[in-house]
Amino acid sequence: MKSDSQKRGTYFIQTFGCQMNERDSETIAGMLERDGYERAEERDGSDVIVVNTCSVRENADNRFFGQLGVIKKIKEKNPSSIVAVCGCMMQQKRVTDIIKDKYSWVDIIFGTMNIDEFPALLRERRELGQHEYAVADSMEHITEGLPSKRKYKFKSFVNIMNGCNNFCTYCIVPYTRGREKSRPPETIVNEIKKLSMDGVKEVTLLGQNVNSYGKADGFGSDFADLLYRIEDIDGIERIRFMTSHPKDCSDDLIKAFGELPKLCPHIHLPVQSGSSRLLKKMNRKYTKEHYLDLLEKLRDVREDIAVTTDIIVGFPGETDDDFEETMDLVRKARFDSAFTFLYSKRDGTPAAGYENQIPDTIKHERFNRLVEELNEITAEKNAAYEGRVEKVLIEGPSARGGEGVCAGRTDTFKLVNFRCSESRAGELADVKITETGTFSLYGELI
Ligand code: SAH
Ligand code: SF4
Ligand code: F3S
Repeated sequence: MKSDSQKRGTYFIQTFGCQMNERDSETIAGMLERDGYERAEERDGSDVIVVNTCSVRENADNRFFGQLGVIKKIKEKNPSSIVAVCGCMMQQKRVTDIIKDKYSWVDIIFGTMNIDEFPALLRERRELGQHEYAVADSMEHITEGLPSKRKYKFKSFVNIMNGCNNFCTYCIVPYTRGREKSRPPETIVNEIKKLSMDGVKEVTLLGQNVNSYGKADGFGSDFADLLYRIEDIDGIERIRFMTSHPKDCSDDLIKAFGELPKLCPHIHLPVQSGSSRLLKKMNRKYTKEHYLDLLEKLRDVREDIAVTTDIIVGFPGETDDDFEETMDLVRKARFDSAFTFLYSKRDGTPAAGYENQIPDTIKHERFNRLVEELNEITAEKNAAYEGRVEKVLIEGPSARGGEGVCAGRTDTFKLVNFRCSESRAGELADVKITETGTFSLYGELI
């Protein structure tokens, strides 16, 4: 179509939250570029501004409405620009009500299950000049074949499922992403074959709980089966996935780590707490012992496997003893790294109404102790890399290293900085690790 190839203007997307949101933003960018929009370097002055929101972030509401305040000023300078807000916060009626009432200059609101409708909403907004809203609260099927604008040529996210059925009592995601829905294995395999023909070497399979892939949809094949099928795709050299729920981490999946050479030896396995009593209150459906058993089994099949995790500090009712259980688990598990979160209430989740909310001072005290312990372990784990030669997928210029320094990841997901021409981005190269720190490794190409 002629109109599709015309330049329509520029767009800027601001993304918060997890890889699911990053992946959705790639689809939004892909659709905009298909329709003739160009990516802008800066938000200021761009014709379409999209904010893709996350509800898990601490203080999500205040930060989001603060952002809108800034965007309002940008729109005042360029009144024909169109502002669209989307993502997990839009699935909360409380939030969309406030936007419609107090931020009525926002042009388009769309939900996590309406991403495919965005181009039509944008067209209608331009043609009819009216506000456009589309927020569904359930999804019949995942729309296939949408274009996507990837950040890297040589690696890609691949969504294998949407939603979550687990209802951990602190978490908003089941309410913002709807029920679990998996894509058929053939569709995923075909997408990865196409990606590989397009030069992609590394895929990261995405889902809130990839270990329950296919279970609710009755494909007759599970997540481990899917990994075996992806292993056979020519051109793909590395397979990663996230996130895994410990309750569904099957023996077949653990076995796959021992059998599939392309499956990277790294698992992100959020534990949340080391207290079995609190894990029960969180509705996580496993115990501290079960979790430590899983790690042992994983390390039995892949000695070098890196394990990363998420931990929440200050869940309602967390006693000193509960917290000491978490510290004990951390010492036993020896995580390669961890994301730590201060528990914060999410409207509409059961835990927000629990008694014994933990005072901020205690939360912070525990949090600091935990982070100190975790950092020490991370530094020790990283120090073991010194002198080793690691295969690193070169990503491009390092964010911190300065001129002529590139960054890349080992198969265990460690970030490495080394001198290298950025023209080598996308290559798998041997790097000798010469120095290590808590947050990254340094090395030399060999
Ligand atoms: N699906 C993933 C995690 C999604 S949310 C999983 O099940 O592991 C990412 C992380 O945010 C969670 O692992 C948890 O550690 C943290 N988180 C979620 N809700 C939170 C809350 N209300 N307060 C603090 N941290 C929270
Ligand atoms: Fe949230 Fe739990 Fe689902 Fe993860 S598994 S998204 S923490 S409800
Ligand atoms: Fe946030 Fe939504 Fe992901 S709430 S963590 S962006 S699924």
